[in-house]
Amino acid sequence: MDYLRYFDVKNNNLFLDDRNLVELSRKYGTPLIVYSKRKIQENVKKLSDAFNADYLSVIFSIKSNFNPALLSILREMGVGFDAANLNEVLLALRVGASADRIIATPNNLSKDELAKISAEGVILNFDDVGQMELIKDNLPNVVSFRVNPGIGKGEFKGITTGGKGSKFGMPPEAANNAYKTAKAHGCKRFGIHMMTGSNVLDPSFFRQSSRMFFSIAERIAQDNDIEFEFLDIGGGLGVPYKKDEEELDIRSVAKYILENFEDSRSRGFFKNCRLVIEPGRYIIANTGVLLGRVANVKSYDGLYIGTDVGMNSLIRAPLYGATHPILVANKATDPHIVKCNIGGQVCENTDILFKGVSLPEIEEGDTIAFLNCGAYVSSMASNYNLLKRPVELLLDGSEEIIIKRKESLDDMLNTFALPLGQ
Ligand SMILES: Cc1ncc(COP(=O)(O)O)c(C=O)c1O
Repeated sequence: MDYLRYFDVKNNNLFLDDRNLVELSRKYGTPLIVYSKRKIQENVKKLSDAFNADYLSVIFSIKSNFNPALLSILREMGVGFDAANLNEVLLALRVGASADRIIATPNNLSKDELAKISAEGVILNFDDVGQMELIKDNLPNVVSFRVNPGIGKGEFKGITTGGKGSKFGMPPEAANNAYKTAKAHGCKRFGIHMMTGSNVLDPSFFRQSSRMFFSIAERIAQDNDIEFEFLDIGGGLGVPYKKDEEELDIRSVAKYILENFEDSRSRGFFKNCRLVIEPGRYIIANTGVLLGRVANVKSYDGLYIGTDVGMNSLIRAPLYGATHPILVANKATDPHIVKCNIGGQVCENTDILFKGVSLPEIEEGDTIAFLNCGAYVSSMASNYNLLKRPVELLLDGSEEIIIKRKESLDDMLNTFALPLGQ
């Protein structure tokens, strides 16, 4: 994958949507995530064009990026939301999503939290029968359960959420019994869900997992004499983070899933049923580029590039060993002739984010561009070491809109009790 093709290059500087990223990094300060509204719109269109089915609903997984301005763009495009907890449900409602376009898939919530989600009128997808039992006297209109179909695939173990060893969902037999229990509690409307892992670039996995899922759903429908109103196949659509990876063949993914769905329909199942897909990464990852400034270069037991992008801004790298494509925004086409390690300002050695990266000759003041930082970057950032999380900027046609301002020390101390007089 040639990542330069995401950008224009003028005078050796990277340009995104006609803006010089080096100039933006100086104007707004670093660390800075620059998002392209155009790319968000392109990604949503690519997805719906590939499926091209009127029974398909796309819902965006808020955990991948909860910036309200970005959620608003998606809501305006008719995208619904996957919410992981009450706060994500409340945010989806605040950006104007209607309750029937929100599916909550929480994990290990208290009775009180589940009841509050149910009271908002959104669709609730229970991780386990025990979670449903907690609010059995007050169940939502539509009840759904998360099934673990027995397989999982993800780029890393931590983001593989199906198969053996997963903390999520129920095996098919247990799910079958859960629907029986729900019926016994008087439920009449049902959905079903799976989510088997994140960042999958192999279309054939979606063929395999959807086939297994639809056949589990068929059995449960038959056994319990119920009709599902929706089948939610989760997210997981991947993006290429490494040089030797190509973009996901989304048309093949859609073709495989739809073939399996139509197959079930031809046998009389899922006639009045929505097919739901809930991607996060595929919609938002490549729309954001994280910019950092080089503060120091030193060469002792290796070449160390010190920047203001650390593990507080980009925890994916040390947490999973995730890689990101890296370019130097002010040396876009210079040959990559050095091998270096890149770290931030955090006081621990975990903060060497990337090792053995090939880059042009680097000097203090250079602007490093970490690509594919639209997903699981801002939403996973922290104030560790009292460091600022990145400022966020949206490029929208000719407008530059700050969608997350710079954090001050007071912002970071906001919820703490300060000693009197401070
Ligand atoms: C329930 C659920 N749905 C959707 C997603 C989105 O996954 P992705 O960003 O890989 O599309 C996740 C991510 O973990 C998830 O847990």
